[in-house]
Amino acid sequence: MIHNLALQHFRCFPDLDLSLTPGINLIHGSNGSGKTSILEAIYLAGRARSFRTNYLSDLIHRNDNNAIIFIKGEQSDQHFHIGCQVTPSSLAVKLNNDKLKSRVSLLDFLPLQIITPVSHQLVDSGPSNRRKFIDWGLFHVEHSYRNIWSQFRRVLKQRNHVLKNKGTDLSSWNQQFTECADRLSYYHELYFEELSSYFVELQKQLLGNQIASIEFYAGWNKIKGLHDELKRSLHSDLARGFTQHGPHKADIKFSFVESKRNVLSRGQQKMLVFSLQLSQCLHLMNKTGLTPIVLIDDISSELDTNFLNRLVTTVKDLKLQSIISAIDEKSINSKLISNVFHVEHDQDN
Ligand SMILES: Nc1ncnc2c1ncn2[C@@H]1O[C@H](COP(=O)(O)OP(=O)(O)O)[C@@H](O)[C@H]1O
Ligand SMILES: [Mg+2]
Repeated sequence: MIHNLALQHFRCFPDLDLSLTPGINLIHGSNGSGKTSILEAIYLAGRARSFRTNYLSDLIHRNDNNAIIFIKGEQSDQHFHIGCQVTPSSLAVKLNNDKLKSRVSLLDFLPLQIITPVSHQLVDSGPSNRRKFIDWGLFHVEHSYRNIWSQFRRVLKQRNHVLKNKGTDLSSWNQQFTECADRLSYYHELYFEELSSYFVELQKQLLGNQIASIEFYAGWNKIKGLHDELKRSLHSDLARGFTQHGPHKADIKFSFVESKRNVLSRGQQKMLVFSLQLSQCLHLMNKTGLTPIVLIDDISSELDTNFLNRLVTTVKDLKLQSIISAIDEKSINSKLISNVFHVEHDQDN
């Protein structure tokens, strides 16, 4: 869990110091008061990037030239601290005073699950978010997945390079490619099987009943085999300059029990996505003993009181620490909340 968050010159905050508690921490305040910025700072410390900008200068208070984020926390009985210094051209992160070599090291201390007003995109947009979702799960749970993932990315890049240069002798690349792909896909399938049962249970809690099931698509036709698919698509791979089949094309397919996807309300779609995201949290906890922290930005967006309280109750029952933002404090049953902060935008800042 996070015990303390301190900010200096971050976004609209000249400085800020928050002590967080286990359970549900609610941050409320009007539009532009800095709620999302607080969640963004935590996310930045856990992932070494922002979820809403690629420009480091956006993160620094307009009157300053660097911003500091400092987090003190505890994970599996181990105390940790993360310090980030942001300048317009660099982001330096230190984990327990040591300069961070790879952002992956942060995952073992501050695993974050983030829910935002655009989280419904996991169901209704293209597959890239769903692939990131699968990677989130496996990067946290399977350390060996991290190596295989990097190895696969390297081979994919090299194979694509050969395709772009219209090289036709791909036999050695194909061999390496299919080997890495099979290893990666093995993890994908196993993960998916394990996740599916949590997903059914969480839908019942959040939506009242199961409205969808998930199926995994490996990224190629498993019956034909990847070698065969690569051979068959060689001409079009060459024409396009990239590899069209493989685990980099993996996806999650949803099938809906009664209605079609486009009949679902936005609120139902969001609850479905939360079921999936909380499934990942449960899976992570049971597999590794790590406890993820849930960030929920603008929780009331598109959710009625019933859905809202079910979501908050579920997060509380799972004993997850969460930091939730809302415009109106009263939108959530106060009995569920362990800590409340009010933020206000100071016009002088
Ligand atoms: N780099 C910055 N320097 C100063 N103020 C900023 C900076 N970036 C954003 N802001 C201001 O911070 C305020 C808070 O934004 P935000 O965190 O999105 O608020 P909320 O989520 O509460 O609506 C906004 O009024 C915005 O104009
Ligand atoms: Mg906001």
